[in-house]
Amino acid sequence: MRVVLLGPPGAGKGTQAVRIAQEADIPHIATGDMFRQAVREETSLGLEVKRYLDAGRLVPDEVTVGIVRERLARPDCREGFILDGFPRTVPQAEALDGVLAGLGMKLDRVVSLVVGTEALVRRLAGRRVCGGCGTSFHVELNPPQEEGRCDRCGGVLVQRDDDREETVRERLAVYERQTAPLVDYYRRHGLLVEVDGEQPPDAVTRAIRQAVGNGFPAGSGSGGIESRQ
Ligand code: AP5
Ligand code: MG
Ligand code: ZN
Repeated sequence: MRVVLLGPPGAGKGTQAVRIAQEADIPHIATGDMFRQAVREETSLGLEVKRYLDAGRLVPDEVTVGIVRERLARPDCREGFILDGFPRTVPQAEALDGVLAGLGMKLDRVVSLVVGTEALVRRLAGRRVCGGCGTSFHVELNPPQEEGRCDRCGGVLVQRDDDREETVRERLAVYERQTAPLVDYYRRHGLLVEVDGEQPPDAVTRAIRQAVGNGFPAGSGSGGIESRQ
């Protein structure tokens, strides 16, 4: 199963990718998580990308494609992977096609999570992420069992630096300008499935399972797909 999860900031890519990766036993590759880890560890990559993350802008394509190329070449990606937050520009999508061709692979599906702006803003404003394992929660919409603590690993929940209001506005604008054109790109390539991302998280997971179909054992998915091109 080789899948891309596409969607604006706050659409639920991370929330869903963690679940799908765990169920299908494939790696979850999230460029945003990789960049944030590099920033935390103050590696040379981290120092290079910090200003883009802080401003809510995209890291240059060469840098991003380079780290994804390396990651996809690792042996654990042979049986499949789920990409979250990559590609995000048409040149990145074209580069991904080239990287996969070089590895003798092709994408199976691109799942686009469709969520309206109002819901996105509300989700990002209330998001809290685990400092330990990176799992996302929401103070109202998806609260942890114990306030301020991660359900999965017990880590402390914090607000992401780029979830401040002006940065969120910039990230949403960047999505419209640079990433939304990918919906048509993948529709033209016959890979796109749109899923209603405003449903509750479990319903979204079921819809994604159905969209990616054969990657799961028969009967494990049901319902919820908006449209299929
Ligand atoms: P990245 O980390 O990828 O951020 P993003 O795309 O802005 O997306 P988010 O992680 O904010 O949202 P999400 O869709 O994962 O939502 P989540 O599941 O957390 O990128 C960050 C930065 O890194 C970029 O700005 C850029 O600088 C750089 N970068 C990354 N990739 C790059 C690339 N390819 N090229 C260049 N630069 C790149 O959910 C959000 C909230 O909603 C949570 O609180 C969650 O609990 C809640 N929620 C989730 N699902 C539901 C639901 N169904 N109902 C109710 N609430 C829900
Ligand atoms: Mg995310
Ligand atoms: Zn955790």
